[in-house]
Amino acid sequence: MLLPIEIPSSVDQRVVPADWCEQLEAARLRIQAFQDRWDRPQIEQFVAADFYHVFQAMDWIRETQTLVGNRFLEWGCGFSVVTSIASALKFEAIGIEAESDLIQEGRVTLKNWQVTAELIHGNFLPDGADTLAHQSTLPSLGHPIESGYQQLGLELDDFSLVYSYPWPGEDRFHQAVFERFAAPGAMLLCFCGPNDLRLWRKAGSIDPLEIPMEGRRQRRRSRR
Ligand SMILES: C[S@@+](CC[C@H](N)C(=O)[O-])C[C@H]1O[C@@H](n2cnc3c(N)ncnc32)[C@H](O)[C@@H]1O
Repeated sequence: MLLPIEIPSSVDQRVVPADWCEQLEAARLRIQAFQDRWDRPQIEQFVAADFYHVFQAMDWIRETQTLVGNRFLEWGCGFSVVTSIASALKFEAIGIEAESDLIQEGRVTLKNWQVTAELIHGNFLPDGADTLAHQSTLPSLGHPIESGYQQLGLELDDFSLVYSYPWPGEDRFHQAVFERFAAPGAMLLCFCGPNDLRLWRKAGSIDPLEIPMEGRRQRRRSRR
């Protein structure tokens, strides 16, 4: 079961530090230029979130929520702006993205912001997750690429906080995947549109001693 957690509306009053404002604005302009490019086909599934609001919510989560570990995952990381925010907030940050061009752009974001994160060109859906889809046409489905988890040597239940920006109508699917595959106590943050950030916790133990997620690093297989 996923338990909804209310993000207070006052979260949008949180001060975003001036250097962050500059970085977020620079990322916004880079994304705009990328989307306006005429020499290559558009990546239709890539739409950027309101990064100020996501920053404020992540900062609030960091401050107020008990997390079952320190590993963060962005599903479909695009320019890896949210992954970079997570890294700056001292998460062990990882982003998985299906489009190689976006992985390249994500690497530029990490470099510009001088943060460390792991970016994986792969599929964020765990094996078998497609059976949870209520429609076969959902945008997250049908990416014929290798599993991101396989490449990482991790599973979805190794992450304590997952962020996604589902396409309209797809939020239910993302929730169902998280509910099936995430660890008890882990949290899912979704950007569902302007002023619409939603947060859930998967029911179950949230005692970090019972879920030694950091210790699970040894489960990682060597990367190819
Ligand atoms: C709506 S965009 C969100 C981008 C970014 N996370 C943000 O919040 O600004 C969704 C991204 O997910 C990627 N994507 C969709 N399905 C995927 C999948 N199954 N595996 C990996 N990436 C996927 C798309 O290529 C796209 O970049």
